[in-house]
Amino acid sequence: MLLLTTLLALGVALGVPAAAPGESACLSFTVQNVTDVPVALVGQEYYPAGATVNITTLYSMINTNTLPAFCRLQFAITTNSTANKTAGTEVWLPDSWNGRFLGTGNGGFSGGVGVADLGFAAVQQGFAGVGTDTGHISAVGDGTWGGPHNDNAIIDFAYRAMHLSVVAGKQIVEQYYGTAANKSYYMSCSTGGREGLKEAQQFPEDFDGVVVGSPANWMTHLPAWSIRVNLNVLPVGSPQWITPEMWTGLIHDEVMRQCDALDGVTDNIINNPLICDFRPETLACEAGQNTSTCLNPAQINAIHNIFAPYYQNGTYVFEGAYPGGEEGYAYGLLTPNLSSGSVNYYQYFILNDTTWDPTTLNLTVIDLADKLNAANMNAIATDLTPFVGPEHNGKIIHYVGLADNVISPGNSLHYYGTVRDHMAQTSMPNMDDYYRLFTVPGMSHWGGYGANAFGQAGFATPPIVNDSTHNVLLAMVRWVEEGVAPDHFIAGYYNETQELAFSRPLCKYPQEITYLGGDPNNATSFACT
Ligand SMILES: *[C@@H]1O[C@H](CO)[C@@H](O)[C@H](O)[C@H]1NC(C)=O
Ligand SMILES: *[C@@H]1O[C@H](CO)[C@@H](O)[C@H](O)[C@H]1NC(C)=O
Ligand SMILES: *[C@@H]1O[C@H](CO)[C@@H](O)[C@H](O)[C@H]1NC(C)=O
Ligand SMILES: *[C@@H]1O[C@H](CO)[C@@H](O)[C@H](O)[C@H]1NC(C)=O
Ligand SMILES: *[C@@H]1O[C@H](CO)[C@@H](O)[C@H](O)[C@H]1NC(C)=O
Ligand SMILES: *[C@@H]1O[C@H](CO)[C@@H](O)[C@H](O)[C@H]1NC(C)=O
Ligand SMILES: *[C@@H]1O[C@H](CO)[C@@H](O)[C@H](O)[C@H]1NC(C)=O
Ligand SMILES: *[C@@H]1O[C@H](CO)[C@@H](O)[C@H](O)[C@H]1NC(C)=O
Ligand SMILES: *[C@@H]1O[C@H](CO)[C@@H](O)[C@H](O)[C@H]1NC(C)=O
Ligand SMILES: *[C@@H]1O[C@H](CO)[C@@H](O)[C@H](O)[C@H]1NC(C)=O
Ligand SMILES: *[C@@H]1O[C@H](CO)[C@@H](O)[C@H](O)[C@H]1NC(C)=O
Ligand SMILES: *[C@@H]1O[C@H](CO)[C@@H](O)[C@H](O)[C@H]1NC(C)=O
Repeated sequence: MLLLTTLLALGVALGVPAAAPGESACLSFTVQNVTDVPVALVGQEYYPAGATVNITTLYSMINTNTLPAFCRLQFAITTNSTANKTAGTEVWLPDSWNGRFLGTGNGGFSGGVGVADLGFAAVQQGFAGVGTDTGHISAVGDGTWGGPHNDNAIIDFAYRAMHLSVVAGKQIVEQYYGTAANKSYYMSCSTGGREGLKEAQQFPEDFDGVVVGSPANWMTHLPAWSIRVNLNVLPVGSPQWITPEMWTGLIHDEVMRQCDALDGVTDNIINNPLICDFRPETLACEAGQNTSTCLNPAQINAIHNIFAPYYQNGTYVFEGAYPGGEEGYAYGLLTPNLSSGSVNYYQYFILNDTTWDPTTLNLTVIDLADKLNAANMNAIATDLTPFVGPEHNGKIIHYVGLADNVISPGNSLHYYGTVRDHMAQTSMPNMDDYYRLFTVPGMSHWGGYGANAFGQAGFATPPIVNDSTHNVLLAMVRWVEEGVAPDHFIAGYYNETQELAFSRPLCKYPQEITYLGGDPNNATSFACT
């Protein structure tokens, strides 16, 4: 192993292609000496090219035979030695390595390694990837592991498991290949988006480029909004209750009728939901009408509340939902009952009262969450200078689906705005130099009906072309390594038969899509203006 390592290092130094490590290097790998993080190797498996990779965690699953040859190493890393607290961390190492490191993230309150991103985003594209279970094992909607008072688990979930996995993962990559990664990237969405922003804000040395999607970064407020949205329509069977079928059919259809054409093209995609003031009153029931086909006053009121910014007793809490995401509400925003991670957040992380009743949510609880900010979990810092400043020169690409059905897309615009306002007062007022936000019309939290394949996290669907215009991770590589920033993307939509049905540009906020004329299924018929 030592000899192999030396030869590899020499190969790189001489500029000759290094011999790829293979099965024996993988299976005989032992951890040498990882600085700052106690690390125990608990599993190692080698997958030849095209082997079946079938792995399921409580967060993610992968079942494919399309990956190139790689080594899967599993570790228990100690995150707090006093408490003997550990996190599960995996490092996936392709034989044919591009010299880069990729951090992958998580979703919801899950404790499980993001194996799909390790496979499709990292290994398939030649990156050595790291992922962590964030220090606990649980499903996406389960926050009961928070204790109450399970402080080390909450800290691990907030930032520590990710940061230490990155610190350890980089050293493991260096030991495995005999040479350190040249550049380090991160890509994930939702809770993974929060983790990415947190890394940039708190551990600016960890990554050179961070790609975040629809981040759940305002943790003291987002769960309150999720609860409030539900309270607008609960309980099931009440006058204000709106069935999943009504959201999907009646209401979404009416949203499309009112909003779709406002952007200049009737294409079943709302390119700019912000210019549509949706009026549910057009669906108001008339005397004798079948109530499955119209809205009563309580339902109309609920819809207005869900689309409006959320103020609790006069205090701003969160942006409202945007018209266009209704098809996904039954599987995202709206749960038939309130037993979910959002409720667990206040019960287990803030109030330490597992009997807290979410229907009593009030401003006192939200203020307390802000005051405690359990484990500093929020990732809402507005001064990004340590990461993006000349000392480090880091880059951020942020994307958000405008039909997000879990986190209001407005949260992304709001955070971007707070950073812009702060950075405008610094010596780095031009956000475009280091932080670009791209909006994705018709994309929900995990799919949706808009062009939504551009190489981002969480999607096995490949980009139309593997270049920096179509693949957001390659765009980040180009920005970091060549200094060329992306000004738009071209995304694809794959239909039920997995064929490319249409393509669209994704514009850099605050630009929006303009229809130029021609085939609306072709991205060339649109421009960002
Ligand atoms: C591990 O690394 C640390 C810090 O570089 C060093 O102090 C220690 O001696 C090393 N241990 C071994 C066994 O190499
Ligand atoms: C994948 O693994 C699961 C269990 O983890 C198993 O039930 C399933 O049959 C496997 N699928 C294939 C194709 O091997
Ligand atoms: C580690 O865990 C111990 C025991 O729970 C706790 O007292 C200490 O504050 C923790 N340290 C850190 C850095 O979180
Ligand atoms: C720490 O945890 C490991 C694994 O759970 C266990 O084997 C070990 O005995 C524990 N050590 C202490 C000091 O509690
Ligand atoms: C790192 O970058 C250098 C210079 O661009 C290159 O020669 C080297 O091959 C890269 N290392 C790896 C492991 O790809
Ligand atoms: C809940 O417990 C945590 C420590 O586990 C503590 O920091 C917090 O202040 C407690 N919350 C309340 C409302 O007492
Ligand atoms: C009311 O409309 C719903 C949905 O269109 C339909 O399933 C139901 O049969 C109708 N009920 C009556 C009484 O017509
Ligand atoms: C918040 O508003 C509600 C009614 O809108 C009122 O009943 C309640 O007292 C208010 N709470 C606070 C803390 O002001
Ligand atoms: C509420 O949600 C929990 C957890 O998902 C589930 O076990 C329970 O059956 C649900 N209750 C109702 C009435 O839907
Ligand atoms: C707000 O909720 C908390 C926690 O349930 C409760 O202790 C408090 O009395 C409530 N405050 C008001 C003004 O209703
Ligand atoms: C999918 O898109 C392809 C290419 O546009 C088209 O030929 C095919 O009919 C579509 N399939 C479905 C199920 O819509
Ligand atoms: C889109 O339009 C461009 C320019 O008109 C054309 O070259 C290209 O073939 C079209 N692509 C598709 C998929 O139709």
